[in-house]
Amino acid sequence: MFEKLKQRWKVNGLNLVLIITTFALGGSLCGYAGRKILMLTGLDKGALWIILYVLLITLLWPICVLLISIPLGQFNFFSKYIAKIWGKMSGKTSKTGPKLTQIAIFASGTGSNAQQIINHFKAAENIKITLVVCNKTGAGVLSIAEKAGIPSLLIEKERFDIGDAYLPELLQYKIDFIVLAGFLWKMPVSLIQAYPKKIINIHPALLPKYGGKGMYGSKVHEAVIAAKETQSGITIHYVDEIYDHGEIIFQATCQVEEEETAASLAQKIHVLEHANYPRVIAEVLQK
Ligand code: GRF
Repeated sequence: MFEKLKQRWKVNGLNLVLIITTFALGGSLCGYAGRKILMLTGLDKGALWIILYVLLITLLWPICVLLISIPLGQFNFFSKYIAKIWGKMSGKTSKTGPKLTQIAIFASGTGSNAQQIINHFKAAENIKITLVVCNKTGAGVLSIAEKAGIPSLLIEKERFDIGDAYLPELLQYKIDFIVLAGFLWKMPVSLIQAYPKKIINIHPALLPKYGGKGMYGSKVHEAVIAAKETQSGITIHYVDEIYDHGEIIFQATCQVEEEETAASLAQKIHVLEHANYPRVIAEVLQK
């Protein structure tokens, strides 16, 4: 139950404890204040007092909860929570527009795809690139994130593979969707389970061929050329527990010429990636 709440509210364990405490203290304060007001006004008698009491605590509850949330550092959460309830009650939720989707880009290379994705969603109302996750100090993508004013998170292998997979940080940043763009580590099962059908990857070849562990960068293009393929391309797919294996969302192709080199093929593939990845991400999020 607590895990479900953490995911639903996109908070970490500590924040969940503070939120539950706020609910409990806010509720008690509201009950106490309601009784006191009825007693002081002499309205705590007669048949109607229960109705008055219920009306009063309905009015007092948001105020009490917001008051308690301030010292517990949960004002942000509760102001949004109460606005949401109010929106639903008054039938105005639709006017607040669709929910904001927050994306984390996982990348550890030069970050040219990350750059395109950041550019594409810069002005978007409901989609935000909130975080860049990287496993390589000095990777180009880190300076791209910095220039764009996007926080980055440098991760280390042990905690990612056999620890908590940085899920607390992802929850803290309220990440809804993960985009891999040149990230070579395998996604741990815990992350795949926490983000079902919400992690996608781009591979620089036409899967299911030329994928799997060790198939990245120029190795993919060298293998394509060595096999004398006349076509290569890109594959955008959901991520599952197996490298380059999840359900395919989109593919685009390019010609492999006779005199093609890994470097020239890489260039063609990058053009295809830049033209399609941001657009496909937007389409997946609209589903
Ligand atoms: C891309 O070719 C992508 O297909 C692969 O990693 C590469 C990342 O390139 N997964 P860049 O760092 O975005 O330029």
